[in-house]
Amino acid sequence: MQKQLLKNFAGLIEANAKDDLLLRQLEVERLPAHVAIIMDGNGRWAARRNLPRVAGHRAGAESVRAAVDTAARLHIAYLTLYAFSTENWKRPKLEVQALMALLKEFLRKEIRTLQDNNIRFQTIGREQDLDASVRREIEQARRDTETNTGTVLSVALNYSGRADILDAIKSIVTEAAHHHQDPAQISEADLARHLYTRGLPDPDLLIRTSGEMRVSNFLLWQIAYSEIYVTETLWPDFRRADFFAAVLEFQRRERRYGDVKTPEKNSLFVANLK
Ligand code: IPE
Ligand code: IPE
Ligand code: MG
Repeated sequence: MQKQLLKNFAGLIEANAKDDLLLRQLEVERLPAHVAIIMDGNGRWAARRNLPRVAGHRAGAESVRAAVDTAARLHIAYLTLYAFSTENWKRPKLEVQALMALLKEFLRKEIRTLQDNNIRFQTIGREQDLDASVRREIEQARRDTETNTGTVLSVALNYSGRADILDAIKSIVTEAAHHHQDPAQISEADLARHLYTRGLPDPDLLIRTSGEMRVSNFLLWQIAYSEIYVTETLWPDFRRADFFAAVLEFQRRERRYGDVKTPEKNSLFVANLK
């Protein structure tokens, strides 16, 4: 199994001692099924180089390409990228326009790579409020990749975690009224089925780049038990080694979901016997 992982990166990591060392430490049986990333720090990356913010976004697109490639090679089933929040409309008009143009360019250019890597593309968020030209590219990419069976790439566009929950509630209430359902019967699973992320498992690992310790309205419902990894690396600098390092840290964590560790459970049992 471990050999298979090395094979997936053959020709790419041998020359890079850091990549190689990190990859060899990954446990292939314990890879996260769903990785979500808050891609932050494009503006700071540009500012450090005395470049306009847009140059940071352009450089960030290169990191998206690299992250998708790494996820596909690791056979990570779900990769979800936060690209544009509902709050990002507050930014200068020219920056918003540049972000949308970059997105369209990315979809047009990368469709071949998505196909070659068997990646299924979709978006999450209030797509209806995006420009028609953006929606057209999204629709094209979605249709072109809908039968692919590999990594599911979800790009969060015009996304807000609160809007996600609110839209789900509206949809549930409408449906319940239509079927004369008792609201008391609504379950967590029902709500999850009405979120934009329906069909995706909750993220196992949430990565945020550029050091900010906040979730910025991303996947609020879905990250209830996600492991959070914050790196100082700015998004345009985020490459394979950073991805591997995040997964490695994830594998060192002990996920308890509110329970206690098994040995502690046993010790409690022994104590009770005394
Ligand atoms: C993330 O980088 C990209 C988007 C939010 C679209 P930022 O543009 O937020 O970069 P910083 O946080 O200003 O450095
Ligand atoms: C989060 O980054 C949104 C995306 C990465 C798309 P922001 O830069 O918008 O978040 P804040 O403003 O620092 O919370
Ligand atoms: Mg930011």
